[in-house]
Amino acid sequence: MSGVDVERRLEELQDLGLYRRLRMTSGPQGPRVVLDGKPVLLLCSNNYLGLADHPRVREAAADAAMRWGVGAGGSRLVSGTMRIHRKLEERLAAFKGSEAALLFGSGYLANMGVVSALAGDGEIVFSDELNHASIIDGCRLSRARTFVYRHNDMDHLAWGLERAERRGALIVTDSVFSMDGDVAPLGEIVELARRHRVRVAVDEAHGVGCIGPGGRGAVHEAGLEREVDVVVGTLGKALGSYGAYATCDRELARYLVNTARPFIFSTAPPPPSVAGALAALELLIVEPRRVERLAANSAALRDELAREGFDVSSSTTQIVPLVIGDATQAMAICEQAIEHGVFAQAIRPPTVAEGTSRLRLAVMATHSRDELREAARVLGRAALKTGFRPGDGLPVAAARDLAPERAAA
Ligand SMILES: Cc1ncc(COP(=O)(O)O)c(C=O)c1O
Repeated sequence: MSGVDVERRLEELQDLGLYRRLRMTSGPQGPRVVLDGKPVLLLCSNNYLGLADHPRVREAAADAAMRWGVGAGGSRLVSGTMRIHRKLEERLAAFKGSEAALLFGSGYLANMGVVSALAGDGEIVFSDELNHASIIDGCRLSRARTFVYRHNDMDHLAWGLERAERRGALIVTDSVFSMDGDVAPLGEIVELARRHRVRVAVDEAHGVGCIGPGGRGAVHEAGLEREVDVVVGTLGKALGSYGAYATCDRELARYLVNTARPFIFSTAPPPPSVAGALAALELLIVEPRRVERLAANSAALRDELAREGFDVSSSTTQIVPLVIGDATQAMAICEQAIEHGVFAQAIRPPTVAEGTSRLRLAVMATHSRDELREAARVLGRAALKTGFRPGDGLPVAAARDLAPERAAA
């Protein structure tokens, strides 16, 4: 048969230590789950605030299923907008202090839609080398040229903008980087954008609910909510549901309705997910202490890991990478840790650059201090057992130098 040799490609992935398989969990994404039949502490879920299984969120989703049904039935442009979609958009816009919010099916779709709507053939998108895959795919869909600047390197970005000769259309960046847990220098990005008259889009997938005042994200923390043109956020992580949104001004929202392909050509988010996210947002607003608890837990885990000899200095958020380097060794440490009751998934290429495989730890507000202390110990022992001394870990900055120009876009 012509085309991809599937069998050979799968064997190749096995040989390279890059083969992926699905693991089974039972029960909701709480601090503890049963993984392939074994009870473990869950240290790699994006249910950061514990809202995915909160009773009020579950109830809201169940009520919405009874009231509106399980599916939205079509794209909102074709079969109409339900009251629940509009209500969540209004609440999100108020929460983010923006004129408008527009729901998308997922964060992946939102980034694809926003980037491809704001740049086109003959224009240039400036994209951080560690941006999420959905941004990279949005760049591809746009048909614009992509200038991939070195991670958070403002000199490199400025250099690219200076050479763009007015073809620059958009700077796009994650706020909190999903595999590194560091935060983009948004103030400098906005300053450069202003100087070169290009738009800015920020993906707050791991920022909303986690950082900034009341969990409003990194853009708010930097006081830039009036300066950033579009903020994308997902409902699938701290907000415990599924779906996503873009906040922007009214005119841009109308433009996205008319041009963002994943909004136009895909079914609207299901009513139970939308209602669940709305309930989660209300909880976030009235109980901001969850965000404080998440920050305290993140700091506690970093301290415990540092005590085990791991270099965690680059992370300032709930995402804490333990960079191992080799993919097979990262997997071995992951399996060892599971054996001893801690689940922290190993992340390998192409999700991260070659030679920077890692365990990506994700803290939840619902973890206890004892659980985090024990997790750090288990991870330290698991590393040693595979012959990896935690002190040998590549600091993230050094790891990046191994592959500064990822073939990202
Ligand atoms: C930075 C970033 N943006 C976007 C997404 C996609 O969001 P969703 O899971 O809602 O599709 C993710 C998910 O992993 C992410 O990490």
